[in-house]
Amino acid sequence: MNAAAATLGVGFVGCGRIADLQCLGYLEHPAAEIVAVCDVDTGRARRRAEAWGGARVYAELDALLADPRVDAVEILTPHHLHAEQAAAALRAGKHVSLQKPPTRDVAELDLLVATAARSGRTLRVFENFMYYPPHRKARELIDAGAIGTPLSVRLKTAAGRLGDGWEVRPETQAWRLDTETCGGGATTFDHGYHCFHMGEFFVPAPVERVHAFVHWTELDARTKIDGPALISWRYAGEPPRLGSWEVVASLGMRVRSRYYVSDDRVEVHGSEGILWVNRCTGKLLDEPSVVLYRDGETRAWHDLATDWAESFRLGVRDFVDALREGRRPPQTVEAARRTLAFALAVQRSAAEGREVALSEIEA
Ligand SMILES: NC(=O)c1ccc[n+]([C@@H]2O[C@H](COP(=O)([O-])OP(=O)(O)OC[C@H]3O[C@@H](n4cnc5c(N)ncnc54)[C@H](O)[C@@H]3O)[C@@H](O)[C@H]2O)c1
Repeated sequence: MNAAAATLGVGFVGCGRIADLQCLGYLEHPAAEIVAVCDVDTGRARRRAEAWGGARVYAELDALLADPRVDAVEILTPHHLHAEQAAAALRAGKHVSLQKPPTRDVAELDLLVATAARSGRTLRVFENFMYYPPHRKARELIDAGAIGTPLSVRLKTAAGRLGDGWEVRPETQAWRLDTETCGGGATTFDHGYHCFHMGEFFVPAPVERVHAFVHWTELDARTKIDGPALISWRYAGEPPRLGSWEVVASLGMRVRSRYYVSDDRVEVHGSEGILWVNRCTGKLLDEPSVVLYRDGETRAWHDLATDWAESFRLGVRDFVDALREGRRPPQTVEAARRTLAFALAVQRSAAEGREVALSEIEA
């Protein structure tokens, strides 16, 4: 942190698709400034630097890390690079905000956690669904007892016709669809990370066991994608609590979205009521974003901020404010380790055709 100016200097590592949204919270925060950018594609890095007010451009991570103006880094690169880049940043004395999924496996994450502990710097995993205003409202209602004891969560992801919404570069598709660089399936590991985190967000209890049906659909002779999928899980302890996530691609259906061509819905049943969150990434239905049923009455929230970008803004703002206030922002690495183990248990369950306990992965 630049004490004189009380401004957090931030370096972006990876200037691809998601940098479009990740930059917003920094550009708008009065106590933060994007001072450096790094990308192997230096043309892309230069365009970002210009758009963001003249940050310094680096082709190499080490050069960005040697810049004393950089207090914290945002890591927005393919998953196989996360562990190494985040560790290098921590060793260089920088705070780190690392995009989900943090690493490809638990061993990589544990090494990173040890490096963070030695560095005394903050390492947080950025998972934006937890900041999406309708999700936060639903969680606030759950915490206030609006549905009694949460008993079950059902998450649905509806993917639609490709080619609408955001343009995703073929290189990005390529690293996402390669399980070596992605860490698992593009759907059930990459997007799944959000949904598995939401599984414990809406039913605040540890997940114990999972079962996954995952069909791999051929996109062309060399590429396959992991969907449709239906995943279910059981939480530890009592009362009995269950969750599920289903993802279906309706390739002939247009999904209204300014971002990816998919949308997410949530239904949480409690002992005394039911909550629905009717949208997230896209705008599939013109319904109130949050609906609560209890005691024969329905209550709806129509005026929450529902643009998906808002979750990025709020998540970034929380990181900057947490550093300034000396607190640990979510996701902490301990929480991220659980979500990662959940996502990996799903991969194993689908591959081996059996129920998998998270303890098998966490051990
Ligand atoms: N929270 C979300 O909803 C969300 C959405 C999209 C992406 N993401 C995450 O953001 C990260 C980036 O995804 P993306 O979609 O922007 O990918 P992308 O492919 O569009 O961008 C990655 C960028 O990293 C650069 N890069 C590659 N190797 C590099 C290196 N060694 N050093 C510096 N830069 C390098 C690439 O040139 C590219 O510009 C991933 O972790 C992804 O899962 C999260």
